[in-house]
Amino acid sequence: MRIVKTKDYNDMCRKAANVLSAQVILKPDCVLGLATGSTPLGVYRQLVEWYKKGDVDFSETVSVNLDEYVGLAPDNSQSYRYYMNDNFFRHVNIKPENTHLPNGLAVGKAEECARYDAVIREHKGIDMQLLGIGHNGHIGFNEPGTAFENGTYCVALAESTISANSRFFSNEADVPRFAYTMGTGAIMQARRVVLIASGAGKAQILKDSFTGPVTPQVPASILQLHNDVILVGDEEALSLFV
Ligand code: GLP
Repeated sequence: MRIVKTKDYNDMCRKAANVLSAQVILKPDCVLGLATGSTPLGVYRQLVEWYKKGDVDFSETVSVNLDEYVGLAPDNSQSYRYYMNDNFFRHVNIKPENTHLPNGLAVGKAEECARYDAVIREHKGIDMQLLGIGHNGHIGFNEPGTAFENGTYCVALAESTISANSRFFSNEADVPRFAYTMGTGAIMQARRVVLIASGAGKAQILKDSFTGPVTPQVPASILQLHNDVILVGDEEALSLFV
C-alpha cells in the first residue's frame, strides 16, 4: 500500500484528483469506479476545474458507482445518481450513457444485482476504484458483519450508517433502510484502489482497517490483501498510524 499524507482536506482532494486524472490521461477509455459521501466532493470539484481548463478529457471514460439507495428515484436529491450528476457528470464531458449506477427503482432486486455485475463485466472490470470509508469501516455499503460478498447485492444498512447519513435527509425516518452495493469482491478486482479519508473522525477506523486483522467486522480491512492500494489521507485521518 502506498500512503499519501496531505496537510488538510483540500490538499487531499487535489492529490486524489491528480491520481484519478493521471489514470484518465494515460487511458482515456478507462473504467473509473466512483464513490459518493462528503469526502469525494472536493475531488470532483477539482476534476471539474481541471476539465474546464482543458487538462483532462472524460469523453471516452466509463464510470461505475459503488452503490445506490433502494427506493430512491434518480431525480430524488438524496439519490446517489442525483449526487453524481449534480457534483460531477453534468460539469464534464463524460457521456451520460457511459455513467452507471445501480437503479434504486428496479423492480427485481436479484435481477438488478445481476444486471449491474454484467455492466462491470462487459467493461472488463474497473481500472481505478475511488473509495471513501464509513466510520464503521464500510466501503460502498458493505457493512460490518456481512460476508465478503463477491458481486452486487442488496444490503440492510447498519443503524450507525442510517444515523450518519441522516444529515443529508430531513429526518432519520426518511433514510432508506436498504441499498444496492458492489460487493467487496468487485472492489478487490479493481486494478487499483484509491481510498480517501479526511479528519480525526476517520483516524481510528483507518488504523483498524490497515493495521488490524482482516475481518468482515471491518470491511475495509480486506484492502490489506489488495496489491495496489493508494491511501490518500490528511494528517488528522492518518494521525493514529502514520
Ligand atoms: C456512505 C457511502 C460510502 C462513503 C461513506 C462515508 O455511506 N455509501 O461510499 O464512503 O458514506 O461518507 P463520508 O465521506 O461522508 O464520511
